[in-house]
Amino acid sequence: MSSSTTISFSHFTLITTLLLLLLLLPLSSATSTTGHRPFTKVFVFGDSYTDTGNTNDSTAPLIFRQISSLPYGRSFFHHPTNRYSDGRLVIDFIAESLNLPYFPPYLNPSSDTTHGVNFAVGGCTAIPFSFFVKHNSTLDTIPQSLTTQLAWFKLYVKKSGCKSKVSTPKQCKALFNNALVWIGQIGANDYTYISGTKATSKTVQKLAITYQTNLIKELLSMGAKYVVVQGLPATGCFPLAFSLGLPPTDRDEIGCVGSKNKESYEHNVVLQQKIDDLRREFPEAVIVYGDDWSVYKEVYGNPAKYGFVERFKACCGIGGGEHNFNPMSTCGAPGTSSCKHPSRYTNWDGLHTTQGLNWVVSRLFLNGGFANPPFSHLLKKAAESRE
Ligand SMILES: *[C@@H]1O[C@H](CO)[C@@H](O)[C@H](O)[C@H]1NC(C)=O
Ligand SMILES: *[C@@H]1O[C@H](CO)[C@@H](O)[C@H](O)[C@H]1NC(C)=O
Repeated sequence: MSSSTTISFSHFTLITTLLLLLLLLPLSSATSTTGHRPFTKVFVFGDSYTDTGNTNDSTAPLIFRQISSLPYGRSFFHHPTNRYSDGRLVIDFIAESLNLPYFPPYLNPSSDTTHGVNFAVGGCTAIPFSFFVKHNSTLDTIPQSLTTQLAWFKLYVKKSGCKSKVSTPKQCKALFNNALVWIGQIGANDYTYISGTKATSKTVQKLAITYQTNLIKELLSMGAKYVVVQGLPATGCFPLAFSLGLPPTDRDEIGCVGSKNKESYEHNVVLQQKIDDLRREFPEAVIVYGDDWSVYKEVYGNPAKYGFVERFKACCGIGGGEHNFNPMSTCGAPGTSSCKHPSRYTNWDGLHTTQGLNWVVSRLFLNGGFANPPFSHLLKKAAESRE
């Protein structure tokens, strides 16, 4: 390595470290330094971006069926945990920031769910499975949807006796007291699964948001008081989006697939309108919108600022080139390999993000102005109700 490379590299590392420290500061003052727990438990919903182990190699969608082996988990747990990443997910960093243990998967019977439980499922859709069957979807849709996750939640809380805050106010108050509900991104799979069918993206938008809104509404009616809803990420920025056969001219100003990014952007606009309606209907609840899309836009537009060298290339995959991605042979399949420094990549396996990007996303949510209302408002409200 020449000395000039060495100098510029350490300079780059220094800037990155300073930036990351800056991002870290405000939250530590809000929570971790005191060891204080703003919430005692967290109920989590979502898809593979949030799944901490409800799926595994035998139940995951066919395209990502090597999540139960290394290199999945190589950067942090150092063994596979059935997370779709090389390490921690956004929800894991949230758990750390709230001073809580990682939220365990609902389907693992040995989970200790004292401080929360995770119902998120990799490959999951917002719209029920029957819709995709009816439309003759040829992709490997899995049978679980948000409706399944809600049914699991109800089974899980059955012995609490909470049915609705009107009919069983005491029980529901106990269940949701100091509890945070986290709805991770959901709906991206719905759009993917209709490709090649006659269903339109407009139909998916309408139905997916309806099912998501119904889930949130049901939880609010049961007594949930603190809710975070993540919007869709900029889905046009993933290596997978470049493999969909869309014309090479279909690019936005940051170089992502324009029509996919527009699709997720428009989805988020409508989702936020529905969230506003829910805020009016449940004024005593705090509902925070986590703006993933804008976070991606910020990071993909300024990768070096956040320590990233590769934006559109999967760290783990096959084929090299601009994307290092082949949907027939994804991360972990024979012949694939993973890059030397995953933290310099935003993308892990062609669809899912690296721990590096997950960390940045969590910081930008918590302290970076990418949540509405800000996370500090949620913490303040939760603290007030405990006084
Ligand atoms: C994978 O998940 C299914 C469904 O939850 C479960 O029955 C099975 O035991 C799991 N397999 C492994 C290897 O963990
Ligand atoms: C699905 O396939 C069946 C049998 O080929 C056909 O009759 C039906 O019209 C298709 N449905 C849609 C929504 O395309």
